[in-house]
Amino acid sequence: MRKTYIKICLIAHFLMNAVVIGAYWGDEGKGKIVDMLAANSDWVARFNGGDNAGHTIVANGKEVVLHVVPAGMVQGKNVAIGPDVFFNPKTFFADYEGVLKAGFRVNGRILIDERAHVIMPYHIALDAGGEASGKLGTTKRGIGPVAKDKASRTEDITICDLVSPGLREKIKAVVAAKTAELVAVKAIEKAADAEKYAEAAYAEYAPYAEKIRPYVGSCAYELNAALDSGKTMLLEGAQSTLLDVVHGTRPYVTSSNCTAGGAAANLGIDLRKFKIIAVVKAYPTRVGEGAFPSELGNYEDAKKEKKGETLTAAEKKNAVDGDQGLLGKWIRQDGREFGATTGRPRRTGYPDFVALNYSAMINGVDEWAITKIDILSGKPLKAVVAYEKDGRKTTRFPFKLEGWKPVYGNREYFWNAMAESEIKAAVAKGYDALPGGMKEYIRDLVIATKTPVSMVSLSPEREITVTKDVLKRTMEYLR
Ligand code: IMP
Ligand code: MG
Repeated sequence: MRKTYIKICLIAHFLMNAVVIGAYWGDEGKGKIVDMLAANSDWVARFNGGDNAGHTIVANGKEVVLHVVPAGMVQGKNVAIGPDVFFNPKTFFADYEGVLKAGFRVNGRILIDERAHVIMPYHIALDAGGEASGKLGTTKRGIGPVAKDKASRTEDITICDLVSPGLREKIKAVVAAKTAELVAVKAIEKAADAEKYAEAAYAEYAPYAEKIRPYVGSCAYELNAALDSGKTMLLEGAQSTLLDVVHGTRPYVTSSNCTAGGAAANLGIDLRKFKIIAVVKAYPTRVGEGAFPSELGNYEDAKKEKKGETLTAAEKKNAVDGDQGLLGKWIRQDGREFGATTGRPRRTGYPDFVALNYSAMINGVDEWAITKIDILSGKPLKAVVAYEKDGRKTTRFPFKLEGWKPVYGNREYFWNAMAESEIKAAVAKGYDALPGGMKEYIRDLVIATKTPVSMVSLSPEREITVTKDVLKRTMEYLR
């Protein structure tokens, strides 16, 4: 195992600088891939989102869930939180404590951009009590309201404001401006309570300001200086391409740029120095509302499901024989597809090559990293190759997805569950040792997206990842 790990590190070294983003609607397992690649990076920087994200890392048999801290912290790397990250200080310190509690040491620098926006208690109240939480199924972390304030330029509180002397007055002024809204969502009972509410927010945040002060700086200057001096860097995206505020399935998206270009715009770095790796889970999932053409079963049934429910042998047989609801449940349960942030069951679907082709284009993806493909073992699959609506067919990913039905390719993919010895053999021997049906699926994904694969993850464990010959063999599919 140790030998394999060293090999992974060597490969990671050749990758040099990389942006890691998600291909579908999030929860692709970016945390694991970033953690793996971080072994040979000097810096890991988060460039978007906030604590609506949940990145799960399994290392040394310990599970750590990070919401706002970049995954590199687990390996003692320098970590940066960029100016487009929505920063909840309470979550930041909870993440930090979680890393320590799991037995890891925080050795690197921590840099929090002075331009980042702070999530305040009223953002959370407005998100939870507002229209968006129900209509869009938000994570209720205050993301939409803080993004709105950022765009307003008058009611925003930046990290710079947080550590500046005028904080108390600024909070008071912003709360005064929001009083009617805060009464409407019952965060305060009546307008006269606004000042008390502002004071409480200040009392809560002033100690955070003191603790954060040593970390505050400019990512643009620090990260560019690091690059200029030959340091290596990973840029870690949160959420995913189809949740991008511009290119995603609006309005059912988050409020930040989740695409690779977002990393350049929001960190102020030159993307030409970076390889673009998109993490694609072997099957798409979605939490929250919005169209999902290849969905297996439906959201209402999924919502009733509890983590850990198992399928009977008869149910599994029915799933294999074509019961899509049961197949979706089976994938959800085997894949433990329950939100790391909210605990909500995730909707599951058949692989969608139309969506992935769009993702490859939008991000300029160099390589896919496929995750959780082991979850699909023993389950028959097909993949979306086009969409259809009112007799019209398209291979483009429509802006308004509603009403578009999936058109599946003729091929069915199937492989049996891999024994532990087979998994180990695949990790050691490389791509050729993967099951035939799995390689057929990968081949068709590569051809449909004109993009090769560099990693195939078979487990949440850092070490159980196939990298040997993956890029070489999948490039051959494109000849
Ligand atoms: P918000 O980002 O909390 O405003 O939520 C907007 C939409 O993005 C909802 O459908 C959420 O479920 C979804 N979303 C936000 N963050 C994540 C994530 O990290 N993974 C998956 N979905 C997310
Ligand atoms: Mg997640």
